[in-house]
Amino acid sequence: MDWKNFLAPYAQVVEELKVKLKGMRVQFEHESSHSPIEFVTARVKPIFSIKEKMKRKNIHIKDIELELQDIAGVRIVCQFVDDIDDIVSHLKSRNDFEVIEERDYINHKKESGYRSYHLIISYPVDMINGERKIIAEIQIRTLAMNFWATNEHSLNYKYEGKIPERISARLKRAAEAAFKLDEEMSKIKDEIQEAQRIFRTDKINHK
Ligand code: GTP
Ligand code: MG
Repeated sequence: MDWKNFLAPYAQVVEELKVKLKGMRVQFEHESSHSPIEFVTARVKPIFSIKEKMKRKNIHIKDIELELQDIAGVRIVCQFVDDIDDIVSHLKSRNDFEVIEERDYINHKKESGYRSYHLIISYPVDMINGERKIIAEIQIRTLAMNFWATNEHSLNYKYEGKIPERISARLKRAAEAAFKLDEEMSKIKDEIQEAQRIFRTDKINHK
Protein backbone atom coordinates (compact mmCIF):
# COMPACT_ATOMS: atom_id res chain seq x y z
CA MET A 1 0.00 0.00 0.00
CA ASP A 2 1.41 3.36 -1.09
CA TRP A 3 0.07 5.38 1.83
CA LYS A 4 1.66 8.65 0.82
CA ASN A 5 -0.04 8.49 -2.57
CA PHE A 6 -3.34 7.32 -1.10
CA LEU A 7 -3.42 10.07 1.53
CA ALA A 8 -2.45 12.95 -0.81
CA PRO A 9 -6.02 13.93 -1.80
CA TYR A 10 -7.09 13.68 1.87
CA ALA A 11 -4.34 16.10 2.87
CA GLN A 12 -5.51 18.46 0.14
CA VAL A 13 -9.14 18.26 1.33
CA VAL A 14 -8.16 18.90 4.95
CA GLU A 15 -6.19 22.01 3.94
CA GLU A 16 -9.02 23.34 1.77
CA LEU A 17 -11.66 22.76 4.45
CA LYS A 18 -9.46 24.40 7.07
CA VAL A 19 -9.14 27.54 4.95
CA LYS A 20 -12.86 27.65 4.18
CA LEU A 21 -14.08 27.07 7.71
CA LYS A 22 -11.60 29.47 9.28
CA GLY A 23 -12.72 31.98 6.66
CA MET A 24 -16.28 31.39 7.80
CA ARG A 25 -15.28 32.28 11.37
CA VAL A 26 -13.59 35.52 10.32
CA GLN A 27 -16.59 36.43 8.16
CA PHE A 28 -19.01 35.87 11.03
CA GLU A 29 -16.86 38.05 13.26
CA HIS A 30 -17.05 40.89 10.72
CA GLU A 31 -20.67 40.61 9.80
CA SER A 32 -22.47 39.78 12.99
CA SER A 33 -22.07 40.49 16.65
CA HIS A 34 -21.42 36.87 17.48
CA SER A 35 -19.47 34.17 15.69
CA PRO A 36 -20.91 30.68 16.17
CA ILE A 37 -17.39 29.34 15.62
CA GLU A 38 -14.85 29.47 18.42
CA PHE A 39 -12.09 27.55 16.63
CA VAL A 40 -11.46 25.02 13.89
CA THR A 41 -9.02 22.11 13.86
CA ALA A 42 -8.28 19.57 11.15
CA ARG A 43 -6.12 16.52 10.62
CA VAL A 44 -5.48 13.57 8.36
CA LYS A 45 -5.85 10.34 10.34
CA PRO A 46 -2.39 8.92 11.11
CA ILE A 47 -1.58 5.63 9.31
CA PHE A 48 -1.29 3.61 12.55
CA SER A 49 -4.73 4.81 13.52
CA ILE A 50 -6.17 3.90 10.10
CA LYS A 51 -4.73 0.40 10.49
CA GLU A 52 -6.08 0.08 14.03
CA LYS A 53 -9.60 1.08 12.91
CA MET A 54 -9.48 -1.29 9.91
CA LYS A 55 -8.73 -4.13 12.31
CA ARG A 56 -11.31 -3.05 14.90
CA LYS A 57 -14.09 -2.67 12.34
CA ASN A 58 -12.97 -5.49 10.09
CA ILE A 59 -12.68 -3.21 7.05
CA HIS A 60 -10.81 -4.50 4.03
CA ILE A 61 -8.21 -2.21 2.44
CA LYS A 62 -10.25 -1.99 -0.79
CA ASP A 63 -13.20 -0.58 1.18
CA ILE A 64 -11.48 2.11 3.24
CA GLU A 65 -12.34 4.99 0.89
CA LEU A 66 -16.04 4.42 1.49
CA GLU A 67 -16.12 2.88 4.93
CA LEU A 68 -13.42 4.72 6.83
CA GLN A 69 -15.12 8.08 6.79
CA ASP A 70 -12.84 10.03 9.10
CA ILE A 71 -9.52 9.78 7.23
CA ALA A 72 -10.04 13.49 6.56
CA GLY A 73 -11.40 15.05 9.74
CA VAL A 74 -12.35 18.60 10.61
CA ARG A 75 -13.69 19.84 13.94
CA ILE A 76 -15.65 23.01 14.58
CA VAL A 77 -15.88 24.05 18.21
CA CYS A 78 -18.43 26.60 19.39
CA GLN A 79 -19.49 28.34 22.61
CA PHE A 80 -23.18 27.47 22.73
CA VAL A 81 -25.29 24.44 21.82
CA ASP A 82 -27.51 26.68 19.62
CA ASP A 83 -24.47 27.61 17.52
CA ILE A 84 -24.28 24.00 16.35
CA ASP A 85 -27.63 24.25 14.52
CA ASP A 86 -26.54 27.49 12.83
CA ILE A 87 -23.32 25.90 11.64
CA VAL A 88 -25.03 22.71 10.46
CA SER A 89 -27.66 24.55 8.44
CA HIS A 90 -24.98 26.75 6.89
CA LEU A 91 -22.85 23.73 5.96
CA LYS A 92 -25.84 21.95 4.42
CA SER A 93 -26.60 24.97 2.24
CA ARG A 94 -23.11 25.19 0.72
CA ASN A 95 -22.52 24.27 -2.90
CA ASP A 96 -18.88 23.22 -2.66
CA PHE A 97 -19.58 19.82 -1.09
CA GLU A 98 -22.43 17.44 -0.44
CA VAL A 99 -23.58 16.24 2.96
CA ILE A 100 -24.14 12.50 2.63
CA GLU A 101 -24.80 11.57 6.25
CA GLU A 102 -25.75 13.27 9.49
CA ARG A 103 -25.22 11.86 12.97
CA ASP A 104 -26.79 13.62 15.89
CA TYR A 105 -24.89 12.45 18.95
CA ILE A 106 -26.22 15.47 20.84
CA ASN A 107 -29.84 14.42 21.11
CA HIS A 108 -28.68 10.80 20.93
CA LYS A 109 -25.55 10.64 23.06
CA LYS A 110 -23.36 7.59 22.77
CA GLU A 111 -23.11 4.94 25.51
CA SER A 112 -19.74 6.39 26.58
CA GLY A 113 -21.33 9.80 27.23
CA TYR A 114 -19.95 11.26 23.97
CA ARG A 115 -21.81 14.19 22.46
CA SER A 116 -21.17 15.90 19.10
CA TYR A 117 -22.86 16.53 15.77
CA HIS A 118 -21.24 14.77 12.82
CA LEU A 119 -21.62 15.49 9.13
CA ILE A 120 -20.16 13.11 6.58
CA ILE A 121 -19.48 14.96 3.37
CA SER A 122 -18.39 14.15 -0.15
CA TYR A 123 -15.88 16.79 -1.21
CA PRO A 124 -14.77 17.20 -4.84
CA VAL A 125 -11.06 17.91 -5.03
CA ASP A 126 -9.01 18.64 -8.13
CA MET A 127 -5.87 16.56 -8.31
CA ILE A 128 -3.42 16.69 -11.20
CA ASN A 129 -5.02 13.58 -12.75
CA GLY A 130 -8.56 14.89 -12.46
CA GLU A 131 -11.37 15.38 -9.96
CA ARG A 132 -11.79 13.04 -7.01
CA LYS A 133 -14.67 12.87 -4.56
CA ILE A 134 -13.28 12.42 -1.09
CA ILE A 135 -15.27 11.52 2.01
CA ALA A 136 -14.59 13.65 5.07
CA GLU A 137 -16.04 13.97 8.55
CA ILE A 138 -16.95 17.30 10.15
CA GLN A 139 -17.49 17.20 13.90
CA ILE A 140 -19.36 20.11 15.46
CA ARG A 141 -19.39 20.41 19.23
CA THR A 142 -19.34 22.89 22.10
CA LEU A 143 -16.27 23.76 24.16
CA ALA A 144 -17.70 21.63 27.01
CA MET A 145 -18.29 18.63 24.72
CA ASN A 146 -14.79 19.08 23.33
CA PHE A 147 -13.24 19.19 26.81
CA TRP A 148 -14.98 15.93 27.67
CA ALA A 149 -14.18 14.16 24.37
CA THR A 150 -10.51 15.18 24.49
CA ASN A 151 -10.08 13.78 28.00
CA GLU A 152 -12.01 10.62 27.23
CA HIS A 153 -9.92 10.13 24.10
CA SER A 154 -6.70 10.31 26.15
CA LEU A 155 -8.02 7.70 28.57
CA ASN A 156 -9.15 5.44 25.73
CA TYR A 157 -5.68 5.69 24.26
CA LYS A 158 -4.03 4.89 27.58
CA TYR A 159 -6.31 1.92 28.29
CA GLU A 160 -6.41 0.79 24.63
CA GLY A 161 -10.18 1.20 24.44
CA LYS A 162 -10.87 -0.68 27.68
CA ILE A 163 -11.37 2.04 30.25
CA PRO A 164 -11.88 0.49 33.74
CA GLU A 165 -15.46 0.56 34.97
CA ARG A 166 -14.78 2.93 37.87
CA ILE A 167 -13.32 5.49 35.45
CA SER A 168 -15.97 5.07 32.77
CA ALA A 169 -18.69 5.59 35.39
CA ARG A 170 -16.96 8.84 36.38
CA LEU A 171 -16.73 9.82 32.73
CA LYS A 172 -20.47 9.34 32.27
CA ARG A 173 -21.09 11.62 35.23
CA ALA A 174 -18.62 14.13 33.82
CA ALA A 175 -20.50 14.02 30.48
CA GLU A 176 -23.74 14.87 32.26
CA ALA A 177 -22.00 17.69 34.13
CA ALA A 178 -20.66 19.05 30.83
CA PHE A 179 -24.15 18.93 29.37
CA LYS A 180 -25.54 20.75 32.42
CA LEU A 181 -22.88 23.40 31.94
CA ASP A 182 -23.97 23.86 28.32
CA GLU A 183 -27.60 24.15 29.41
CA GLU A 184 -26.81 26.71 32.11
CA MET A 185 -24.67 28.79 29.74
CA SER A 186 -27.49 28.73 27.17
CA LYS A 187 -29.77 30.33 29.71
CA ILE A 188 -27.47 33.34 30.08
CA LYS A 189 -26.33 33.36 26.46
CA ASP A 190 -27.83 36.78 25.71
CA GLU A 191 -26.07 38.32 28.70
CA ILE A 192 -22.75 36.76 27.74
CA GLN A 193 -23.01 37.87 24.12
CA GLU A 194 -23.94 41.40 25.15
CA ALA A 195 -20.86 41.50 27.41
CA GLN A 196 -18.67 40.16 24.61
CA ARG A 197 -20.05 42.77 22.20
CA ILE A 198 -19.22 45.58 24.61
CA PHE A 199 -15.77 44.16 25.20
CA ARG A 200 -15.12 43.91 21.47
CA THR A 201 -16.17 47.54 20.68
CA ASP A 202 -14.10 48.62 23.64
CA LYS A 203 -11.03 46.94 22.22
CA ILE A 204 -11.60 48.52 18.81
CA ASN A 205 -12.11 52.02 20.28
CA HIS A 206 -8.92 51.93 22.31
CA LYS A 207 -6.66 50.62 19.59
P1 GTP B 1 -15.16 5.23 15.54
O1 GTP B 1 -15.90 5.69 16.77
O2 GTP B 1 -13.83 5.91 15.37
O3 GTP B 1 -15.08 3.76 15.46
O4 GTP B 1 -15.98 5.74 14.25
P2 GTP B 1 -17.38 5.29 13.65
O5 GTP B 1 -17.16 4.98 12.22
O6 GTP B 1 -18.05 4.27 14.49
O7 GTP B 1 -18.22 6.61 13.66
P3 GTP B 1 -18.67 7.42 14.94
O8 GTP B 1 -19.62 8.42 14.43
O9 GTP B 1 -19.11 6.50 16.03
O10 GTP B 1 -17.34 8.12 15.40
C1 GTP B 1 -16.60 8.97 14.57
C2 GTP B 1 -15.63 9.79 15.39
O11 GTP B 1 -16.32 10.43 16.47
C3 GTP B 1 -14.52 9.03 16.08
O12 GTP B 1 -13.43 8.80 15.25
C4 GTP B 1 -14.18 9.97 17.23
O13 GTP B 1 -13.41 11.07 16.79
C5 GTP B 1 -15.53 10.49 17.62
N1 GTP B 1 -16.13 9.66 18.67
C6 GTP B 1 -17.13 8.77 18.52
N2 GTP B 1 -17.44 8.20 19.69
C7 GTP B 1 -16.61 8.71 20.61
C8 GTP B 1 -16.43 8.52 22.03
O14 GTP B 1 -17.11 7.74 22.70
N3 GTP B 1 -15.44 9.26 22.63
C9 GTP B 1 -14.68 10.15 21.94
N4 GTP B 1 -13.73 10.82 22.62
N5 GTP B 1 -14.82 10.35 20.62
C10 GTP B 1 -15.77 9.65 19.96
MG1 MG C 1 -17.84 4.50 16.67
